[in-house]
Amino acid sequence: MGVALLGYGTVGKAFFEMASERKDIKVKWLLALNAPDEIDCTVTDDFDDIINDPEVDTVVELIGGLHPAYEYVKKALHAGKNVVTANKWLMAIYYRELVQTAWGNGTALRCTAAAGGGIPWLHSLARISETDKVSRVWGIMNGTSNYILSAMTSQGVSYEDALAEAQRLGYAEVDPTADVEGYDARRKLVISANIAFGCCLREEEVPCQGITQITSSQVSENKFKGKVFKLIAHAEQKADGSVSAAVEPLLFDSNEQEANVKGADNMIALEAERVGIQAFFGAGAGGYPTASNVLADCIEISQGCEPFYVKL
Ligand SMILES: NC(=O)c1ccc[n+]([C@@H]2O[C@H](COP(=O)([O-])OP(=O)(O)OC[C@H]3O[C@@H](n4cnc5c(N)ncnc54)[C@H](OP(=O)(O)O)[C@@H]3O)[C@@H](O)[C@H]2O)c1
Repeated sequence: MGVALLGYGTVGKAFFEMASERKDIKVKWLLALNAPDEIDCTVTDDFDDIINDPEVDTVVELIGGLHPAYEYVKKALHAGKNVVTANKWLMAIYYRELVQTAWGNGTALRCTAAAGGGIPWLHSLARISETDKVSRVWGIMNGTSNYILSAMTSQGVSYEDALAEAQRLGYAEVDPTADVEGYDARRKLVISANIAFGCCLREEEVPCQGITQITSSQVSENKFKGKVFKLIAHAEQKADGSVSAAVEPLLFDSNEQEANVKGADNMIALEAERVGIQAFFGAGAGGYPTASNVLADCIEISQGCEPFYVKL
């Protein structure tokens, strides 16, 4: 497989290293603003170099953000190249268009790392949706907010102190808005619900409440009653086919599964008619975990697969 890698940040570097260990994947091009001086591939800042190279069959987009990621992905799919991305924002906003473009061009589009980081959640969800009727997806989909709520619960610290510690440890960005206001979890929920239910939910249709309003006294009062706050993203498909979804802080009894997901970990679950409840737990972020899912998507494509997880 001939790969062009876009972006050499946390996930891009880990992907490059892991792909370099394999014989079946060759990273031929790197499009990056900060490429190291010595690297075993050709570095460019011109995306047309990649589009015009017939030896590149797969573009791995790891630059993040909406633009120019959208333009690059769209152009690659139209040029008949497969795309693997970890970009939840891009996939949530342009879901319908990108999925239809992939099907229309017969090229593969995969985004397993976009929800759950290193957890093979979307891949498993898609497999189960093939054979079963999924009625519900939900979970703790944002590690930063879970770290903050866990610290407020276990150490009795304020929201501000827990956020500052999360930033010091690298779990939270300098601007934590997308994590603490629930937007990041909502993007992952939108992609998950779309794959689970074959729908085209849009971000703005999903009510979203983050964790910024939760005070340390609310946390301690509920802890006294044996309850724990968790930021939950959830979507359900009703019998009439309609889908409801929301992101909101919810209280759980301390012996429930959700209550025991600590630190920056994620837990994402589904309920389906035949398999019942299945839950996936693990690192929802980090260079190597996320790059593992990106690499697994590349391998799946090289072995032959449908354009997307589901057809719209
Ligand atoms: N990190 C995680 O744990 C994780 C987990 C799941 C999904 N993801 C997703 O994976 C993607 C990458 O995340 P990341 O954490 O690796 O981000 P990152 O560390 O910020 O890396 C992005 C890289 O892309 C470069 N870049 C930005 N715009 C570019 C452009 N127009 N042309 C070339 N290079 C460009 C950046 O360069 P500069 O730094 O110079 O701007 C940076 O090196 C994002 O979509 C993110 O949501 C990340």
